[in-house]
Amino acid sequence: MGRVFVAGSINMDVVATADRHPKVGETVAGQAVHYFPGGKGANQAVAAAKLGAPSTLIGRLGADAFGQQLRQFLTAQGVDLALVKDTADVHTGTAVITIANADNTIVVVPGANALVSADDIAVPTLAKGDIAVSQFEIPQPTIVAFFKRARAAGATTILNPAPAIACGPELLDLVDILVLNETELGLLAQTELHDTDDPSRFVEAALRLPTASDKIICVTLGKRGVLAIVRGEPTLIAGRAVKAVDTTGAGDCFVGALAAQLARGETIGDALEYANAAASICVQRMGAAPSMPTAAEVATVLSS
Ligand code: RIB
Repeated sequence: MGRVFVAGSINMDVVATADRHPKVGETVAGQAVHYFPGGKGANQAVAAAKLGAPSTLIGRLGADAFGQQLRQFLTAQGVDLALVKDTADVHTGTAVITIANADNTIVVVPGANALVSADDIAVPTLAKGDIAVSQFEIPQPTIVAFFKRARAAGATTILNPAPAIACGPELLDLVDILVLNETELGLLAQTELHDTDDPSRFVEAALRLPTASDKIICVTLGKRGVLAIVRGEPTLIAGRAVKAVDTTGAGDCFVGALAAQLARGETIGDALEYANAAASICVQRMGAAPSMPTAAEVATVLSS
């Protein structure tokens, strides 16, 4: 069995719930405040670990109370933190999130995540069959260095270019599997896309990306499911009808589950179905990292 290595962010999510999102300049009364472990890297590593893959996180925490709480939580989820450094004089990454009607807005303050460096990713020895995963809440030169090492070792690389930030062909060339939503795809393909667009628009945009034909491109479409383009061939995997309470971390759940299944040697088609089912469980719970499902929970959904 391969292993999952995630180079990425670790945040404390400070979550306020409200009946509706405030407009710019407006104040609304909220209902509750929660402190949930989060950060795209941590969420993906937790998802992979809870689904049974050996999962190592590479990242940074501040030497503060949030950092200690996150370390404790991630250890309890079975994530290997040997490559997570505590960093003096900088705070732990923090996301300020508002949730209303299951939809969120997020402001991320990177703190220690901004200091994850090429030296940090130089330690793990990757091997063929391993899966290297990253996202855009750590510096892009670090991701380039990580994926170069992964490729040299024969590992598979998965990039989740979220949040949407421009990136050059040097990084995209190193990616085997791209998992992104319509906003991120629109930015990379330099076209305007909306979540209500016909899937053919997403296929057209995806195939315009550099080295698109060499990659698997997965466009996550929220409740519509996921559009996977494998060797130029599109397939739509329908979303499962569930009542979402909080979609924060659902994309991360999908990425972590996909990585875990590929590390087990599953085919891409089976891994995508599995990840789609896992994400449908995640959206039915509050919080990002604490919402990641177990393998038994995903098995129940897949057999229903
Ligand atoms: O993808 C969800 C994550 O984005 C949250 O956990 C938050 O920390 C932000 O990084």
